[in-house]
Amino acid sequence: MRLETPRLLIRNWRDRDRELFFRINSDDRVMAFFPFRRDREQADRLFDMLRDGIARNGYGFAALELRATGAPIGFAGLQPAGLEPVLPAETFEIGWRLAPEFWGNGYASEAARALLAYGFDDLGLDEIVSFAVWNNTRSTAVMERIGMRRDPEADFDHPKVPETHPDLRRHVLYRLSREAWRARAEP
Ligand SMILES: CC(C)(COP(=O)(O)OP(=O)(O)OC[C@H]1O[C@@H](n2cnc3c(N)ncnc32)[C@H](O)[C@@H]1OP(=O)(O)O)[C@@H](O)C(=O)NCCC(=O)NCCS
Repeated sequence: MRLETPRLLIRNWRDRDRELFFRINSDDRVMAFFPFRRDREQADRLFDMLRDGIARNGYGFAALELRATGAPIGFAGLQPAGLEPVLPAETFEIGWRLAPEFWGNGYASEAARALLAYGFDDLGLDEIVSFAVWNNTRSTAVMERIGMRRDPEADFDHPKVPETHPDLRRHVLYRLSREAWRARAEP
C-alpha cells in the first residue's frame, strides 16, 4: 500500500519508524483518550502486526511520512472496526494518530481524504465509520472536515474500555456512505 497526497506518503511501516510508533503509543497527550499506554515491547509487537496486516491485506493503520523531509509523523488508515455487537462485523473504520508536534497542519485530514478515496474506489467499501470519545474534539473535527456526519442515535459505550476509566467509555459515531462521499467529491 502506497498513497501520495500533496504533502504526505501513506505507506507500510519501516523499521526506522519504530521509535515514532512507540512515542505515539506512550505519550500522555497523544493517548489522552485511551485507557492504556504501550511500553516499547508492546508497541513493537503491534508495529509488527500492523506491518504484516498491511502487507497481507493492502489496508490497515499505515505510516504517514512527510514527503518534504522523509520524517514519519504518525499513522492513519482503514481497518475493520472490530466492534461487534455495536457495529456489524464487516464495518470499516478510519482512524488517525499523530505525534503532537505535527498537530495543527491539516496532515490528518489530508491523509484521511486520500484514504476515503482508497476505501471507496479501490477497496469497494459502501460505508466508512469513525468513532471517538465524545469530547475528543480534535478527532471529531477531522471527521467533520472530511465530510463525515455524526449519527447521534449511534452513540455507544466502548466495550473494550474498562470500568476503571468511566470518562473514556462514551463514544460518538460518525458515518460516510460511498454515495454521500461521491456527491460531495463531485464539483
Ligand atoms: C486527532 C488528531 C490526529 C488531529 O490532528 P490535527 O492536526 O488537529 O488535525 P488536522 O490534521 O486535520 O489539522 C487541522 C488543524 O490544522 C490547521 N491547518 C494548518 N494548516 C493547514 C492546512 N494547510 N490544511 C488544513 N488545515 C491546516 C487547521 O486550521 C486545524 O487547526 P485547528 O485545530 O486549530 O482548528 C491529533 O490530535 C491526534 O493525534 N490526537 C491524539 C490521538 C487521537 O486521539 N486519535 C483519534 C482517536 S479517535
